Amino acid sequence: MFKNTSNAERLKSVHSETLTDIELLGLASSFNLADGHAYQDLEGCYSSIPTELPQMWSEAACSAIPKMTAHFKNTFAGLIESPTLYDFRDFKVCPTASNSIDIIGAFLRAKSLRTTLIEPTFDNLALLLRRRGVDLYALNDERFQQAAESDALDTLPELGTCRALFLVNPNNPTGHVLDAKSFSNVVEFCARRGMTLLMDNSFRLFNRQPFDDYSILQEAGVSFVCFEDTGKAFPTQDMKASLLFYSEDNQALIEEIYNEIYLCVSNFSLNILSRFMDATSRTGLAPALWQIVDERRIMLRNVISGSALRVAANAKKSPLGVEWLDCGSIGSDLSLCRDLRGRGLVILPGRYFFWNSSLANRHHQNVRISLLKDRKTFVTSLAILREFCAASDPVLAKSD
Ligand SMILES: Cc1ncc(COP(=O)(O)O)c(C=O)c1O
Repeated sequence: MFKNTSNAERLKSVHSETLTDIELLGLASSFNLADGHAYQDLEGCYSSIPTELPQMWSEAACSAIPKMTAHFKNTFAGLIESPTLYDFRDFKVCPTASNSIDIIGAFLRAKSLRTTLIEPTFDNLALLLRRRGVDLYALNDERFQQAAESDALDTLPELGTCRALFLVNPNNPTGHVLDAKSFSNVVEFCARRGMTLLMDNSFRLFNRQPFDDYSILQEAGVSFVCFEDTGKAFPTQDMKASLLFYSEDNQALIEEIYNEIYLCVSNFSLNILSRFMDATSRTGLAPALWQIVDERRIMLRNVISGSALRVAANAKKSPLGVEWLDCGSIGSDLSLCRDLRGRGLVILPGRYFFWNSSLANRHHQNVRISLLKDRKTFVTSLAILREFCAASDPVLAKSD
């Protein structure tokens, strides 16, 4: 791959590849377990939704946009059982979670807030923030979790000089989740220090022990900007929306930036997404979402069982619709991804989740596999993986 290239060119090439570049390869391939977007089959409580589209169109056409937007927000509040959000007025809706990140980037830059972001996490957070000129520092996910659990955040030097803390909860790819106590510790720490807390809650619906985090934020009076995402849970073919919530002190600046870019999100999309959320509330998250995640996780773990591929030690309890694997004993993440791609299956190499330290060898031993794809694609992809595991330990034993 790097034949005839200098070291500098090689490093440039390594750095210029992003997770999204590989996800694009996945979209063009027959067997794609790369992106973490929800593409499971439309079944169970969702199966009748396509037949209701004409009615949803009419409802959307008749509804005023602020009314539909409030309905969407309140339906979300019902789904996550957050009474706090019913009365919440400081919010906007973005087309995608990345748009919310970008607005936060512009906000952090405008306020010159030196920011600490969790690592590993999906690389587009760091890419978007840096593109906006945010002064960004990394904080290891596991060290942070331990400090949050034991209320020892004061001991983390990474938090000593920053004025904003950006978390992903649950975190992608590891599935680390802050419980209510740890979350309160973080919020109180930020409030005490006058730090702004940024939260990417894109994977919230996978959390098996949810609590009303917005009530904790509000009671602490901390400065915050948080966003949500429908795109990781509901199989809506990438029709999605991202609620952006902020404390009163951030309202003017966030809305100024939002208004420069967006007017609103389509009423039709919001109506459909509300219908998905309603169906989920009525059925329950366990049968609607968690059950398929568990089934897929068991299928994948059965396929790799006995092979040199393992579930990463820090992700064994992950509730996410993606699995974080350790391939360290058989080769690098890139060589494994390349070999699987040769067989038609695209998955993500782990190193790019380490957005600040992707060149470190210890970060070359993970891959991420998505679970929420249609059954046929998932089953055939697992067959490719099974064949590969059976055939290839010697093949894998090479590195980059
Ligand atoms: C944690 C996290 N936040 C935000 C995003 C961006 O989502 P989208 O591509 O829908 O904008 C991703 C993408 O996978 C993600 O993993």
